[in-house]
Amino acid sequence: MKFSIQSILGLVGLASANPHIHDPHHWHPPGPGDFRGPCPMMNTLANHNFLPHDGRNLTRAVVVDALKSGLNFNASLASLMFDMAIVANPQENATYFTLDHLNRHNVLEHDASLSRADAFAGSNHIFNATVFAQTRAFWTSPTVTPEMLANSKLARQIVSRAFNPTYTFTQSTEQFSLGEVAAPIIAFGDLETGQVERELVEYFFENERLPTELGWTAKADAITQEDVLRISGMISAATNLITDAPTETGATHARRGDLHAGLRV
Ligand code: HEM
Repeated sequence: MKFSIQSILGLVGLASANPHIHDPHHWHPPGPGDFRGPCPMMNTLANHNFLPHDGRNLTRAVVVDALKSGLNFNASLASLMFDMAIVANPQENATYFTLDHLNRHNVLEHDASLSRADAFAGSNHIFNATVFAQTRAFWTSPTVTPEMLANSKLARQIVSRAFNPTYTFTQSTEQFSLGEVAAPIIAFGDLETGQVERELVEYFFENERLPTELGWTAKADAITQEDVLRISGMISAATNLITDAPTETGATHARRGDLHAGLRV
């Protein structure tokens, strides 16, 4: 086959006009037969081929590599996450899981998610715009804080407990959930302040796509277990609804003996 100079230059031009041609991690939505689950990030990593695009056969090596190359998680954190996830496969001594396994209700998947309906109300794993609208209503400025994320978590739990008679949220769900609510900060935000740009988070949830075209890049320093614990701790602290008394009123005295004193004597 003969190539003219023009055709070669044309190909180069095409490649530079379409940088995705050579990008193995160019985003593709799931096709028929591809598994996806309730985790927007695992879905995203599969959509970008950091995980197998079909969402199957997620072994430790595959998960560790995907979290490293997609998000710069260090190997020990990624390996720990695999250990926590493997229970999703109902098979004994399993060495892999699939994105579909993650849908099993009350194994890892739980009620009051930020972007999915409760299993009682419908699909527990497909992105739900109505549920996500409830969540994002609490992200009240272009820079989302741990407090706003905590508000959305609490709100989703209250709506769920009010309207889902099967509402379940155990102590271990709480730990898992704190990590999930911290996750947007961990992936896209500032690990010192705990703040994250709202548009990056919304783009990620709504498209199950890394917000590269909005200027995001993976962190230069590898993300560690300590980072995750610190940011989850920020979310946990921000779920506390008790404030200090306003200093100007000096209303710090203990109230005793009336209904407003509650159980305190
Ligand atoms: C081994 C790796 C991972 C596994 C097995 C996993 C699994 C899950 C599961 C089962 C859920 C559903 C919980 C629910 O019912 O709401 C979930 C939610 C979530 N995950 Fe992951 N995940 C992994 C890694 C990550 C990473 C690396 C991030 C981002 C840094 C992430 C971000 C999220 C977020 C934001 C949610 C909450 C979704 C919502 O509430 O609607 N996950 N994950």
